Amino acid sequence: MVKQNDSWGSRTGLILAMAGNAVGLGNFLRFPVQAVQNGGGTFIIPYLVCFVVMGIPLLFTEWSIGRFGGKRGNHSTPYILDSMSKSVWWKYIGVFGIFTNIAVVAYYTYIESWTFLYVIHTVIGTFTQMSQAEVSSFFVQYVNLNGSNFGIPYLPVLVYILVLGINIYILSTGLGGIEKVAKIGMPLLILFGAVLAYKGWTMGAENASAAFPEANAWDGINFLWTPQFNSLLDPKVWLAAAGQIFFTLSVGMGSIQCYASYLKENEDIALNSLTSGFTNEFVEIVLGSAIVIPIAAGFLGLDWVIENAGFGMAFQTMPYLFMQWGEVFGAIAGICWFGLLFFAGITSSLAMGTPWMGFMQDEFGWGKAKGAVSFGILAFVMGLPTILFYQYGYFDEYDYWAGTVSLVVFALLEMILFTWVFGMDKGWSELNRGADIRIPEVFKWIMKYITPLLLLLVLTSALITPQGNDWVGAVSGLFDGVGWKLDSGSLISKLTHDDLKLLQLNDPQNGEIYEKKIFFSTLARVQLLALFLFIVSLVWYSGIKRKSISHE
Ligand code: ALA
Repeated sequence: MVKQNDSWGSRTGLILAMAGNAVGLGNFLRFPVQAVQNGGGTFIIPYLVCFVVMGIPLLFTEWSIGRFGGKRGNHSTPYILDSMSKSVWWKYIGVFGIFTNIAVVAYYTYIESWTFLYVIHTVIGTFTQMSQAEVSSFFVQYVNLNGSNFGIPYLPVLVYILVLGINIYILSTGLGGIEKVAKIGMPLLILFGAVLAYKGWTMGAENASAAFPEANAWDGINFLWTPQFNSLLDPKVWLAAAGQIFFTLSVGMGSIQCYASYLKENEDIALNSLTSGFTNEFVEIVLGSAIVIPIAAGFLGLDWVIENAGFGMAFQTMPYLFMQWGEVFGAIAGICWFGLLFFAGITSSLAMGTPWMGFMQDEFGWGKAKGAVSFGILAFVMGLPTILFYQYGYFDEYDYWAGTVSLVVFALLEMILFTWVFGMDKGWSELNRGADIRIPEVFKWIMKYITPLLLLLVLTSALITPQGNDWVGAVSGLFDGVGWKLDSGSLISKLTHDDLKLLQLNDPQNGEIYEKKIFFSTLARVQLLALFLFIVSLVWYSGIKRKSISHE
């Protein structure tokens, strides 16, 4: 994006922007839910291991290749990767680094728009007199587009456009604007998070009620933080932990490389990447785990939390729970909660806009305004169906293919490029050039062997997850002539819609709904594929342009 020689204003600005890129909705909405669904303390060990052996090496790699490409005038992954090898194919692999950002931002900004609207609802007291069921159905009606919010039809679409517009405006101001938002948003987010986390940590059992006499916030905290060793061999937990590390650090996306491409030639990578990575982990582990789960456990009990843990909890349950603290503090808590989600979201969605803008600037000379508006149009075209067909799984389909699978595929490929094609020795000196710390040599070995191997393992096990996640049973089934039975959650079953077909079989009364879900999920895939091919064609065309310029 912006001028080729654009760069970050200050080290603090860079770190806050990079941390803002990582700290997002994933820290506050995805992390607690993943942790609860995967057994609380069972999840935490695989999660921390994945951070060290996949997260940190990927941060090192993406910062390094970003700065390397930027020095050669490339600010998005197609030509950043291209500059690292002689093969003509890497620039097409680099398409992932633009594609994923546009596909993810399309639905990510939609969630951001919920947080924006929920701040307003909290301020005007919409939830004050509502029962828990009413707060919950308020959200369901909103996303199903039949809520009568302020009597405005299609309000979700309008709020989405507004929030997308805010993103476009900030992006059009370039790195300076992004830096400014990070400098304001990150401290505010941490302040709001600290207020709520303090409440979560000090709540105890004082809010237990007749309906939930056992409720105790500490049960939630203990559930998350008492390490359990019994599931260390369960691939399902490892897959979930790896997926969370990818999403939360924004690795495998393409946005870190883009931000890093605006670093100065000898600017430190080692310490800066670790600082932003650890900031993200602090926010995720300390603040992310201290809000939704303890507060919900404090009012409703741990059993309720385990049974109901889900993405919607943040919107369907929290506004009601906050109000139990009284109107004034309830409103303050609501503003803190949805405000922090909004800042967490916007600092990440801004990062997702930059690879497209960088590409269009580098290859077609598009300025900031044109780049930002075109990005907004693409995001809107991709995002609108996720709003209109939300209940048919359009949104989930994007999250699975772009927000989960794509990240792992791209991370694996770029790791191979950096450590094997470009070469680990060259890569190591690139990483250490200008470094303010000495990275332990063991990382050289981890990056070359362990990380790619684990990524391959994660991908393969997701592809062929056996029925019931029973790997031991599945392997012995191969020898007993039973064959390998796929789980409905495996990538292959998802690809063939076997997951939905199974649900349809077990729930014939709702057969029509599943038909619709299959139809819309196919449509969502076609749309994702079209976006990918569109970017491939731009890369192809830019290659021809580059060639003709070099011949002149
Ligand atoms: N890393 C961003 C998040 O956690 C995408 O939400």
